[in-house]
Amino acid sequence: MPLRRTLSERIQEIEISAIKEQLKIAVEDKKIISLGPGEPDYESPKHVIAAMKKYLDRGYTHYSPIEGRKELLEEISRKLKRENKIRVNPNQIVVTCGASEAILMSLMTTVDPGEQVLVPDPGFICYRPMTELLNGQAISYPLLHDNNFSITYEDLKKSAREPKRLRAIIFNTPSNPLGKVHRKKELEELADFVREYDLLIISDEAYENFVYNGKHVSVGSLNGMKNHVITLGTFSKSFGMAGFRVGFAAGTKKVIDAMRNLHLYTTLCAPTISQMGAFSALKERKKSKAFIKKNVNEYDKRRKFVCKRLEEIGGFDCNIPEGAFYAFPKFNFKMSSVEFSKWLMRNAKVAVVPGSDFGFYGDGHVRVSYATDFDLIKKAFNRIEKAVKKLK
Ligand SMILES: Cc1ncc(COP(=O)(O)O)c(C=O)c1O
Repeated sequence: MPLRRTLSERIQEIEISAIKEQLKIAVEDKKIISLGPGEPDYESPKHVIAAMKKYLDRGYTHYSPIEGRKELLEEISRKLKRENKIRVNPNQIVVTCGASEAILMSLMTTVDPGEQVLVPDPGFICYRPMTELLNGQAISYPLLHDNNFSITYEDLKKSAREPKRLRAIIFNTPSNPLGKVHRKKELEELADFVREYDLLIISDEAYENFVYNGKHVSVGSLNGMKNHVITLGTFSKSFGMAGFRVGFAAGTKKVIDAMRNLHLYTTLCAPTISQMGAFSALKERKKSKAFIKKNVNEYDKRRKFVCKRLEEIGGFDCNIPEGAFYAFPKFNFKMSSVEFSKWLMRNAKVAVVPGSDFGFYGDGHVRVSYATDFDLIKKAFNRIEKAVKKLK
């Protein structure tokens, strides 16, 4: 006899994004060039891998403390002080299975069912479903192409229609999918807004090192923000360590203590060997700095190329991306972004991600990732150019 009911309502209500289907086809069909990747195309640093091998031989195969290994917590605390101007003690940090787990734990520890969370729209695909899985309500704050994806105090206020139910805002700079680097002035307006509405900021800084124009500023470093911000980081992007699943959350002792309790009942701890890799990445600073610089310089070249080609091909209007490794052009062809992505896949054999996957305001755009081999990017744009001629 089949079960009367197998799946929870919660899981049945989750929207399945088009990205999954598109990228699956792109992997299966070898003729397709994928401009879809959400992770760097380079391998983890050699010095990190070498250190991890040594740690494995020395038996680092057991659970770690729930909050993470002491030496890693100390290194993250130093890094936050040095690079992000955020002063937190090691006991105000928890090591997580990537920034993904840090986002989930931040929401679980701070948002009650029925409470609202402001999410960037377009924004990283996890924010809305994670909030909704916890029976919170995700409310979009629009990041509009015509405003160069900027935020202002006034616009945030407009999104906060039910201030009493509002609990937190998720903020992401540099942004996936926009490539936007929010300026200090915008962060100050955000800080004014959260002070007035007594909100928490979940600050996702996964791409902090990928900045080509301007400067990355952590909102947690602004005056008076200490008690309002949970800062999230990851080793997935800067160090090309996505498969190791290691990131962190840093905040007030109260929030981090709560996360530690939660960790015990969920994943228990981030993988020990990955934590030792993360520790080596931070400890061997000179080598890591050179590694990041080399990769960011290479991505900058690709970024400029992508912008140039979009302009030359025509039919696209692209705010110049200043960070992360994505461009988010608006296209001027009479199709939805899902239709246009499918059309490109069929006619150019190039996979991009439909902008609507990242929220209502993403429609009319596509996300183009340049975390792909440069020669393939060049080839992909030649194909796009040829295909798009048919639409003009
Ligand atoms: C903005 C953003 N935050 C978080 C993550 C998750 O990263 P992690 O591998 O650390 O879980 C991603 C991954 O693409 C991302 O784009």
